[in-house]
Amino acid sequence: MQTRITDMLGIEIPIVQAPMGWIARSPLASAVSLAGGLGIIETSSGELDVIKGEITAMRDLTDKPWGVNVAQMFVRDIEGLLTFLFENEVGFVTTSAGDPAVLVPRLKEAGVTVFHVVPSIRGAEKAAAAGVDGIVVEGIEGGGFKNAKGASSLVLVPEIADRFPELPIVAAGGFVDGRSMAAAFALGADAVQMGTRMVASAESPIHDNWKQSIVAGKETDTVLVRGQGGPAMRTLRTERTTKSDEDHEPVALDPAAMMGTYFGGDMESGVAMSGQVQGRIHSIEPVADILQTAWRDCQAIMTAMGEQVGT
Ligand SMILES: Cc1cc2nc3c(=O)[nH]c(=O)nc-3n(C[C@H](O)[C@H](O)[C@H](O)COP(=O)(O)O)c2cc1C
Repeated sequence: MQTRITDMLGIEIPIVQAPMGWIARSPLASAVSLAGGLGIIETSSGELDVIKGEITAMRDLTDKPWGVNVAQMFVRDIEGLLTFLFENEVGFVTTSAGDPAVLVPRLKEAGVTVFHVVPSIRGAEKAAAAGVDGIVVEGIEGGGFKNAKGASSLVLVPEIADRFPELPIVAAGGFVDGRSMAAAFALGADAVQMGTRMVASAESPIHDNWKQSIVAGKETDTVLVRGQGGPAMRTLRTERTTKSDEDHEPVALDPAAMMGTYFGGDMESGVAMSGQVQGRIHSIEPVADILQTAWRDCQAIMTAMGEQVGT
């Protein structure tokens, strides 16, 4: 089975690995691309020199397609990054956390395929007006930075698919397996993006405590908190994030404390972003198994549904 996105991006499995600060780097992204999906390198860490090295590393690690996310709010030297992306002939970019009108036309002019990440129908209108090739539609149930007033994937994806039938959609937020993928296709998506599932993969570089918290976490164990000076984030429920939620106080995002969570395994020092779908993740798996199982199950479910309709 092919979709508009497998055709457009030249991938075998319509699963995109979410860009995630410090996590979506070459070991994870190359594993996803080698398994037939689309790996994405993050920029939201703001560590541009490291990121440039990661982009260079991708060339050596895989000859399959991959892309880069430009998280506009977090990249200080946008011009330097764009120049680097053009020089290195990066063919696919998702833009997020900013106005699509700023970067989409420039990326398109340089021959890059561009999708913009949107949390709302209004966001999709702006992305379409900016001339995107496709849209990543992010439901509020997903992990990471969110529009606090957001809506679920179930509401956003079909409405955006109906309003912009010419634009391929990557559905993000709540997608983890064949069942949820088949649902995404029924809603009008052409691919899914997985974030939380990828955090809890064997190739994810984060500390095992975070991975195990996802496996142990229930669907009700996430909190939408405000980050100091930044957007809202869906995070794992910890003492710190619960207190921030109850006190209506933003959480401080001290870089050293964040790294203490990411790589030191201290689940209370920083915040660990995670989606509600953690309630459906029961083990840490290699990326290739996650992709192959989800895609096989998705196609089996769609086939069975088609047969049911025929009876
Ligand atoms: C740990 C983490 C970090 C994230 N960082 C980013 C980011 O840097 N840029 C971005 O566009 N989205 C980011 N997201 C959101 C993901 O791209 C994705 O849309 C979301 O995780 C999908 O929902 P799911 O968690 O239910 O799979 C992040 C998500 C997580 C879990």
